[in-house]
Amino acid sequence: MTKHIPIITIDGPSGVGKGTVTLQLAKHLNWHILDSGAIYRVLAYAAQKHNLQPTQEPELAQLASNLDLQFQQVEDAVNVILDNENVTDDLRTESCGNFASKIAALSAVRQALLQRQRDFLQTPGLIADGRDMGTVVFPDAPLKLFLTASAEERGQRRYKQLKQKGINVNIGDLINDIAERDKRDTQRTVAPLKPAADALVIDTTTLSIEEVMQQVLALVNKVI
Ligand code: DC
Repeated sequence: MTKHIPIITIDGPSGVGKGTVTLQLAKHLNWHILDSGAIYRVLAYAAQKHNLQPTQEPELAQLASNLDLQFQQVEDAVNVILDNENVTDDLRTESCGNFASKIAALSAVRQALLQRQRDFLQTPGLIADGRDMGTVVFPDAPLKLFLTASAEERGQRRYKQLKQKGINVNIGDLINDIAERDKRDTQRTVAPLKPAADALVIDTTTLSIEEVMQQVLALVNKVI
């Protein structure tokens, strides 16, 4: 399954900084990226366009199998193209993330997206970001990282990001949303969010992104 191409998996809850670490590491190693959350978000976006509800498992799995989806890795970001349309900005909303979290709990949906995710594995290597990269999608990865931070800290980080974009939200609501999404992602029966048995856990609550990257690069240099 792994074709002997190196993989680093980066799992963890929402808003922990996996995306930033993934992009910086990909740039450093010149490897490919799998942003698996974006796949669930695209499906959520497409499902909403088709007026599908999170209860419609067979229809959602069918939609997941037929998604016409491309990722374009650019300098400091990855653009998501659905049906030839750049939907990157539409995917980042809290409502899209929440809908994605709901449909990600459905086993037929996860099954429909499994091979699509494994197909990202190309030379010279892959950094895979998500919830179940180390446990389900790439269980043989030689380096598995699991990033954590308190819900309060993740809420504060998200709040600052949104504020910089000129979007005003209530910090309490944001922290509650994050805690609710954590609960759904960790308590689902299929591929719940949890560190793989052989994952290395980094608690980023009190660390800057530079400090996190220092720890990550030290592990990469040791293992890869
Ligand atoms: O990483 P993200 O916030 O973009 O992910 C959105 C939702 O997708 C997340 O709440 C749960 C789901 N997801 C998942 O179940 N498995 C993954 N590997 C990635 C994301």
